[in-house]
Amino acid sequence: MKFFIDTADLKQIKEANDLGILDGVTTNPSLMAKVGISGEEAVMQHYKTICDIVDGDISAEVVSTDFEGIIAEGKKLASIHPNIVVKVPMIQEGIKAIKWFTDNGIRTNCTLIFSAGQAILAAKAGATYVSPFIGRIDDSSWDGMELIAQISHIYQVQGFKTEILAASIRNALHIVKAAEAGADVCTCPLSSILGLLKHPLTDIGLAQFLEDAKKFA
Ligand code: E4P
Repeated sequence: MKFFIDTADLKQIKEANDLGILDGVTTNPSLMAKVGISGEEAVMQHYKTICDIVDGDISAEVVSTDFEGIIAEGKKLASIHPNIVVKVPMIQEGIKAIKWFTDNGIRTNCTLIFSAGQAILAAKAGATYVSPFIGRIDDSSWDGMELIAQISHIYQVQGFKTEILAASIRNALHIVKAAEAGADVCTCPLSSILGLLKHPLTDIGLAQFLEDAKKFA
């Protein structure tokens, strides 16, 4: 399973990249706003900076909702760097645009996926990735992991090549469960990635080893 970091915060992106296990980055307009990036020029420059830090797929989201607008924006974003993946919302115009991008060699991430039907449609249009929003599904008392498992099963049975990118991850357990359910990629906050490190027995065991090592120093 690939690891992406889900943020536009450069400090966190660098910290995750320094771990040596990072395969890419996802952002969205809310994450951009959170770090104070707004306006086309600033957004484009920020994506360029992220591409310079991380050697992997970088999802850059369009904010247009009509076919022509999505295509124009997506072409501009894709021209920033070969690693840019154009993130397109799961709407009727979005599906049309994903098919156009597929036919024109531009990779896409279909975002805001909340059902298997949406995931089938995105795969039919040739999306490189689909992003089911696990946390937001769980927040509304449905089971996000069940959706990952269902999409994984359908893609396997049907031979779809689209990769399942588990998004809206809230904690380390989500990462483990997404891996189990068949996600190809997990995009996570830094805190959830670092959460995978934690186990009290590791800390206790290490403290003991370091204490015992002093006896022979
Ligand atoms: C990533 O591609 C999504 O935009 C993101 O994971 C959404 O996460 P949230 O539900 O925590 O906002």
